[in-house]
Amino acid sequence: MESQSNHLRRLAEQYGQGHLFRFWDDLSAEQRVELLDVVRQIDFALMDRLVDTWVRNEPAPEHFEHIEPVDVIPPVGPDTDPAVLEAGEQALREGRVATFVVAGGQGTRLGFDKPKGAYPIGPITGKSLFRYHAEKIRGIQQRYETVLPWYVMVSHANEQQTRDFFREEAWFGLEPENILFVRQAMLPCVDEAGNFLLQKPWQPAMSPNGHGGSIQALMEGGAIADAEARGITVICYFQVDNWAAKVADPWFIGYHCQANAAMSSKCHRRNDPREAVGVHCLCDGAYRVIEYSELDLYPQLLETDENGAPRFFAGNPAIHILSTAFVSHVHKHFDRFPWHKAHKKIPHLDADGAFVTPDKPNGYKFETFVFDALRFVPHPPVALEIPRRGEYTPTKQYDGVNSVVATRNNMAEYWAKWLEAAGCNVPRNASGACTVPIEISPAFALDADEFASKIDGGELDLARGIAIDADGTVTLPASKEAKG
Ligand code: UD1
Repeated sequence: MESQSNHLRRLAEQYGQGHLFRFWDDLSAEQRVELLDVVRQIDFALMDRLVDTWVRNEPAPEHFEHIEPVDVIPPVGPDTDPAVLEAGEQALREGRVATFVVAGGQGTRLGFDKPKGAYPIGPITGKSLFRYHAEKIRGIQQRYETVLPWYVMVSHANEQQTRDFFREEAWFGLEPENILFVRQAMLPCVDEAGNFLLQKPWQPAMSPNGHGGSIQALMEGGAIADAEARGITVICYFQVDNWAAKVADPWFIGYHCQANAAMSSKCHRRNDPREAVGVHCLCDGAYRVIEYSELDLYPQLLETDENGAPRFFAGNPAIHILSTAFVSHVHKHFDRFPWHKAHKKIPHLDADGAFVTPDKPNGYKFETFVFDALRFVPHPPVALEIPRRGEYTPTKQYDGVNSVVATRNNMAEYWAKWLEAAGCNVPRNASGACTVPIEISPAFALDADEFASKIDGGELDLARGIAIDADGTVTLPASKEAKG
């Protein structure tokens, strides 16, 4: 350990980060091992490059002569060519598809101390986001008599808790051999002068390297090898916080396969130019997503049409398809992947070793974004417009916009239509909003037609709301009297 600690210490000193070891003499043997383990994983040369580019110098924002809206395929409707669906369904039946959720982020905005995917989003059942996604996978496996492997990206910060959660929940009824966790890398957080911060005397403050880290995680965590061994060419990407994401949408897969695309994206209409979503656009002819935090740099993205709607309407719900070969290709060029800096409040030890929780941003985290892979695609990617309902319901906080409360209302509205189509009487208020909670397991029905073929809605009592589970079991919420 002596020679190793000397080596790592010298390395840190060489890059001006020797203070990582300033409490060394006071650390226990275990704490020293822990510190060395983290320091060993730090790519000092990369960090030095990031600090030099983003902290010591403030780079000029990328300049584009022309920014234009992207060509977007209109939403799937009655007139859409059925051959698209057939192509997607064939890929699913032939086992050429895997699904991939990014769940490595820290759910700080939700104020939840477990992995975000464990959040009990179901208003009646308390089913977690992970379980909802798993039940969609089960629904697709049943419908297409196929196996849909599930790759789950975690980070060092939440891997153990996530693995434990899956085990406690018996893998949500899925086969554990078809679930693979891949871990994204973490990077040190730095102060405003570029010095690494410590959060404990033996722990540098670290943060996940952004969901662009999924390229490395898929490759280095064995998912691409697993996909290749199974003959999988299509990897459907979504975010854990989007309860409604179609985890493997045959229409989207069909468009992707027909175009032989490297990477495809879904887009939704932005509510307003300041909506907190990235914008799909063409920048000097190259496909880009401009992140919402960078919109002020490109004022044309804030322009509206005569109806007040954003002229660049294509918002980013963070739903993509990556081809297996494309992930390998981008991985080879990952050193060219762009980085972004975020100014954040980073709890840390001050010069006297006291723990400080700052009330304003005091340092930087560095992240990569998966949509930056779009700049590596060999030909124009597929961009498919989707409606929000039933596809995009992000849960970023408890109440307000994009919240738990909004998601539960969305669930009720979405499934109320299915129940009505099946002949059920849904309680609605004067403005037409559904007034009761509703949950339908995607492992029971994936769409309104399937639901209507299995349920006689006339027999259901919806006075207080309803939950229908994977096997058709009906749960009615406890009445107020019963609860009290
Ligand atoms: C994100 C997108 C934005 C998109 C919006 C849609 C970014 C930078 N932007 O914004 O373009 O319109 O979602 O809802 O992501 N994650 C990881 N590892 C990380 C960081 C994040 O796995 O290192 C995962 C999180 O668990 C989450 C997702 O990525 O599932 C999004 O992260 P979040 O920070 O919530 O992104 P937004 O700012 O909402």
